[in-house]
Amino acid sequence: MGIGGSVDAGSQSDRVLRAVLSAVSRLGADVEVFSGLDLDLPPYHSNAVLPETTRDYVEAVRRADAVVISSPGYHGTVSGLVKNALDYLEELRGDRRPYLDGRPVALIAVARGWQASVATLGTLRQVVHALRGWPTPLGLAINSSVTTFDQDGGTPDASMAGALEVMAGQVVDFARCWGADRPSPS
Ligand SMILES: Cc1cc2nc3c(=O)[nH]c(=O)nc-3n(C[C@H](O)[C@H](O)[C@H](O)COP(=O)(O)O)c2cc1C
Repeated sequence: MGIGGSVDAGSQSDRVLRAVLSAVSRLGADVEVFSGLDLDLPPYHSNAVLPETTRDYVEAVRRADAVVISSPGYHGTVSGLVKNALDYLEELRGDRRPYLDGRPVALIAVARGWQASVATLGTLRQVVHALRGWPTPLGLAINSSVTTFDQDGGTPDASMAGALEVMAGQVVDFARCWGADRPSPS
């Protein structure tokens, strides 16, 4: 399952997210994506009645064996849209697999400079650890003033295209090894 992107036209974080999901799909996984306007959810409130529009999103994460998260770097960190979507995972706290427990999570951070892309990737890793997920060893920090993706997920940056395939392989391998039905230790 893919989460991320921005609501801006031609969002690079959305394009990279979809490119990684395509690579994951070529490895045999079924993919679902919630990106940009799909994540235009009200600010999360504890114990609030879940708005109808958020249910499909929360259910998709609940059944996912692996997750790919892609955030734009906004003012040096994860965008509010993506962080709010991750806050909704509080709804999974009582599950047999709470939050992202037991799930590999591939991470992508896209900003117009290195400082924000690297910082955002680090923050995404911290958030995923807090959600009990397993960030893949390789994450992608992308400087969109250097590396761009077209609407079909192509990029002239061969090194980044290769890294994307490696990360897709890691997330699929982990999901297959770990198994979706592993009983939770807690
Ligand atoms: C509100 C806002 C804040 C941003 N802050 C930063 C920033 O601090 N550093 C940076 O390198 N890029 C910043 N950017 C640029 C985005 O990270 C850049 O456009 C990138 O491609 C990801 O956004 P996109 O998915 O909409 O393309 C910002 C963009 C917006 C709209």
